[in-house]
Amino acid sequence: MELPPLLRQAVNRALSGVPLADLAATAAALSQRYREERRDGALHVARHRDALAYLAVRLPATYAAVRASFAAIAVARPDFAPRTALDVGAGPGTALWAAADCWPDLVEALLVEASPVFRACGEALAAEAGLPRSTWRGADVAEDAIDGEPRDLVTMAYVLNELAPEARPQVLERLWQATADTLVIVEPGTPAGWQRIVAARRQLIESGAHVIAPCPHAHDCPLVPPDWCHFAERVARSRLHRQAKGGVVPWEDEKFSYVALSRKPMPAAGARVIAWPRKGSGRVTLKLCHPDGSAGEQLFSRRDGEIFKRATRVDWGSSL
Ligand SMILES: C[S@@+](CC[C@H](N)C(=O)[O-])C[C@H]1O[C@@H](n2cnc3c(N)ncnc32)[C@H](O)[C@@H]1O
Repeated sequence: MELPPLLRQAVNRALSGVPLADLAATAAALSQRYREERRDGALHVARHRDALAYLAVRLPATYAAVRASFAAIAVARPDFAPRTALDVGAGPGTALWAAADCWPDLVEALLVEASPVFRACGEALAAEAGLPRSTWRGADVAEDAIDGEPRDLVTMAYVLNELAPEARPQVLERLWQATADTLVIVEPGTPAGWQRIVAARRQLIESGAHVIAPCPHAHDCPLVPPDWCHFAERVARSRLHRQAKGGVVPWEDEKFSYVALSRKPMPAAGARVIAWPRKGSGRVTLKLCHPDGSAGEQLFSRRDGEIFKRATRVDWGSSL
């Protein structure tokens, strides 16, 4: 997946003239904080150079994960056309760009972000890009209420891991109260990220939410550690991205876990493919999460006829 051209150009403009060595060192320190899931009371992105490093090495991946989550919602609910959005922990406005790309009817968005540096960066990226009308608000979502009318689409991407565990239930409750229709939570696709998604999903189902994706059911997640539910999106790396990360290949696979929930009941869904399909001659093995709440591998061969043909065409993350 690539960033939309206008976002790519805005990022390139923001990064032009930034010394590569500085970008690479700041990106390495930022990645280390994220990997450690450090919660020391300090914002990870507190200086302008942190925000630039984020744009170079994290934004393409978080954009890809959020956009892929939105794509799954659009498949499950082709009639969903949000006009208003709220994004919490917005960073540089990643979810706003992804939502505008997925849902052209979006007209207005509120972006809540604690870091003034990130807010300034996000506002600058969005300027003159033809994005929906957006308001950026500085607030701590663990402390402050979210005011205003509930929004059609509410998102929180890669933020739960930055909140203290004891603050998460209340934040989720606030987000749900702010949701008129659909709430999407995205986390890194690690076992810990999946556990946070499982806990959020359980809490929100108890509050009356209906699961849109990825689970085709509202039962407890059938996966048992060390297994975990996650997806992967291949992200194109620009030359600067490669240089800042010291990578050689022109892409990376961003692993993410997510859950999308609605206030509206969902129609019955097909099984979800929850790992790369394993293809052989005349056969394909899919790891599936089923509508009855079970999960496991299933072999399809030519003898299965039409379902085999469909099984050969699906990807990790698709619905069968
Ligand atoms: C990893 S970034 C994700 C940014 C963006 N959502 C994305 O997916 O690219 C996490 C963001 O959450 C913000 N954040 C963390 N704790 C917050 C809080 N308590 N209130 C508001 N924003 C917070 C951080 O400042 C940061 O911008």
